[in-house]
Amino acid sequence: MDSSNKKRNAAKASLEFIEPGTVVGIGTGSTVNELIRLLPTVKDRVDKVVSSSKSSSTLLQEQGFDVSTLNEVGPVDIYIDGADEANKRLHLIKGGGGALTREKVLAGAARRFVCIVDESKLVGMLGTFPLPIEVLPMAQSYVSRQLVKLRAQPIWREGFVTDNGNHILDVHELNISNPLEMETRLNQIPGILTVGIFAHRCADILLIADESGVREMRA
Ligand code: 5RP
Repeated sequence: MDSSNKKRNAAKASLEFIEPGTVVGIGTGSTVNELIRLLPTVKDRVDKVVSSSKSSSTLLQEQGFDVSTLNEVGPVDIYIDGADEANKRLHLIKGGGGALTREKVLAGAARRFVCIVDESKLVGMLGTFPLPIEVLPMAQSYVSRQLVKLRAQPIWREGFVTDNGNHILDVHELNISNPLEMETRLNQIPGILTVGIFAHRCADILLIADESGVREMRA
């Protein structure tokens, strides 16, 4: 089974968490794109939809959904999104698609965060995937120097501008043995808008697709 089939299976398994009358938050990425393609099958259960990126909003509209803003809907019942890495405590690295800021806002606003991945995303320790950090463009050099002091190697994602008009640093070689502590520490650096570690607001449910099906882990 190739990875896109696994992504589709994880996405399909998440549909059962959408109950009637639900406000659904939708993440960003190739796994979520599978979800968006399947979402019309449960349209009767969806009250409103909010999205974490312009690209997901466009796809949702193509599938016939009106996309609301978070300010219009208030609390989000369920947020469904992928991840670049997940550990067994359901801490995540996110932001490979550069949408981490709005993703973190929607995860924070959600009663329940369901993360959908294929088995390749499950890791013992976070950090093999370079950590995405969204920075204010004017602070990029300063933030990079602070990260080098932590013995990490920040690389500017050249030519990429986020939906919020900011830049992304992809941080290599960062020691994330304690995701909660590292998320807190990086959040103290002025100029960092969002750190792609999702540990303080981790997933509530992780759906992992492999060759034999989809298994569930809970925080
Ligand atoms: C986007 C994200 C995605 O959830 C993450 O990059 C996983 O993407 P994919 O489903 O394509 O593997 O955080 O900012």
